[in-house]
Amino acid sequence: MADQTRPRIFSGVQPTGNMHLGGYLGAFRNWARLQDEYDTIYCIVDLHAMTVEYDPAELAAARIETAKVLIALGVDPDRSLLYNQSQVPEHAELAWILGAMTPMGVLNRMTQFKDKTARGASPNLGLYSYPVLMAADILLYRANLVPVGDDQRQHIEVTRDLAERFNNRFGEIFPIPEGYIPETSARVMSLTNPTDKMSKSDPQEKSRIDLTDEPDVIRKRIRSAVTDSDPEVRFDREDKPGISNLLEIMSACTGRSIDNLVDEYAHTGYGIFKDAVADVVIEELAPIKEAHDALDDGDVRAVLHASGIKGAEMAAATMDLVRAATGVKRF
Ligand code: TRP
Repeated sequence: MADQTRPRIFSGVQPTGNMHLGGYLGAFRNWARLQDEYDTIYCIVDLHAMTVEYDPAELAAARIETAKVLIALGVDPDRSLLYNQSQVPEHAELAWILGAMTPMGVLNRMTQFKDKTARGASPNLGLYSYPVLMAADILLYRANLVPVGDDQRQHIEVTRDLAERFNNRFGEIFPIPEGYIPETSARVMSLTNPTDKMSKSDPQEKSRIDLTDEPDVIRKRIRSAVTDSDPEVRFDREDKPGISNLLEIMSACTGRSIDNLVDEYAHTGYGIFKDAVADVVIEELAPIKEAHDALDDGDVRAVLHASGIKGAEMAAATMDLVRAATGVKRF
């Protein structure tokens, strides 16, 4: 850990709801793999989760649950930092300093703020300045690469823009980070509406598979996944989004190419194909569920606590530079 001969990765996840197959195959599985090549910092962004209406007890529990799932799927606290954002107050402090140089015009263009408020979120200042806090998360550790989903591209742009503005005005303190979507990221869609992404905010539980679901639940959800009436299994996101989604899931779980899967299942019928998909998903998730169920809350808290202390040390070092450069050095 903190071996700075390797490029540094920072990423964050909001502790809201359960972690599902889409997040796993699209992002979190990579979090585990990236530890081999990078200096990795993974943050449970609880301050971000406060920007929409929430229940304090649920947030507290979701932080532990999120950490538990991440550890179960392979985030290794001996090799990565894994902590809650609120454990390191410098996130909020740097966000303030960056906020003071963020034009409102930049934030007014953010599609996520517009989307969230259009869907009923109250337009509060925290939600509005969400991208500034995210930029602070990344820059605080002077990260080089930020593995994120497609939907976060605009936030990465703001981060790069703020890093450049800061460096131009106050001196070269921040590396300009890049968004990073590893080749092994799968795009997993909803099982009930396969033109939308699988999402934890979808009120329909049948639309997703949570990482800790029981095998029979997984099988039932895949069997009832929305498909089409043409019986051929082939990959066509436009005309056959449901089947294409199942092919993508199966490919991501097995490492087999889509073509190879189509060769095998083109004419077997959907029933057999879906059962085969269920088999591989159940097999992929079984060790995660087992590891998750064996983890003790107290041990998870201890991991977060220890990582948070190391994170705070790194953050303090950056803030010393930032304070000195911006004229608010501590005496
Ligand atoms: N906005 C990200 C999301 O919703 C979460 C996040 C917060 C994040 N801070 C971050 C991701 C820093 C990467 C880096 O998915």
